[in-house]
Amino acid sequence: MKDIVIIGAGALGQEVAWLIEEINEKSVQWNILGFLDDFAFSTKKTILGYPCIGSFKDVANFKDASFILGFGDPRLTEKIYNEINGENLNWATLISPTVRIHKSNKIGKGVVIGRNADLTVNCTINDFVYINIHVVLGHEVEVDKFSIISPNVTINGGGKIGKACQIGANAFIKDVFIGDYSTVGASSCVIKTVEEYSVVAGVPAKVLHKGTPTKSISRSERH
Ligand SMILES: CC(C)(COP(=O)(O)OP(=O)(O)OC[C@H]1O[C@@H](n2cnc3c(N)ncnc32)[C@H](O)[C@@H]1OP(=O)(O)O)[C@@H](O)C(=O)NCCC(=O)NCCS
Repeated sequence: MKDIVIIGAGALGQEVAWLIEEINEKSVQWNILGFLDDFAFSTKKTILGYPCIGSFKDVANFKDASFILGFGDPRLTEKIYNEINGENLNWATLISPTVRIHKSNKIGKGVVIGRNADLTVNCTINDFVYINIHVVLGHEVEVDKFSIISPNVTINGGGKIGKACQIGANAFIKDVFIGDYSTVGASSCVIKTVEEYSVVAGVPAKVLHKGTPTKSISRSERH
């Protein structure tokens, strides 16, 4: 059994804790040491029964443990990764035992793949990508670093998601490219290439504006 520390104690960090419990139910692999989170450490002792063991900068106190990131906003994920010098840490990759995944898929470090996701063949999931529950990825889908694919998203074979993108819940992405740092609204249908730094939504998806969503995507990170 290996020690693991969850960085981020908001909603997504807590979902990661549940995923680890789910993995352990199948075969015991991880000992959750607790959460690192600036806000939670100053306001709470425990979350979901696990201790708040420090703020982000305290990663150095847990050198022998593995780490996993749990933030609902990809730009925040990348920012915290850079602030804690993430390249020097040991990263876990967590895949729910219920995931269907062919051996031809390439999965990076620090990746999370949630319950009942289905990855078909020859996909490339780069480091620190978060694939939430019930996601379906067709053949040769590529997802670049730090991107978050929300529940029930379907990406057609050949679809490519750039770096630090947020794909909203229930969206459908055709075999197109979503440029880096873009956001796709919930339940949108994207049938054309999306330029980087775009916020798109609707059926078919249209550009709402450039930059970041006016409100943070992740409820927990708004606090
Ligand atoms: C698209 C999104 C990012 C909002 O971006 P925003 O910049 O804050 O945009 P606003 O909320 O100001 O909305 C701008 C316009 O887009 C429309 N819009 C917002 N989200 C939409 C969506 N998903 N589909 C269609 N239209 C949408 C709004 O109705 C509004 O239209 P109006 O100008 O005619 O009133 C957000 O609505 C969204 O869908 N986020 C994804 C949430 C999600 O799935 N999170 C993961 C949970 S696990």
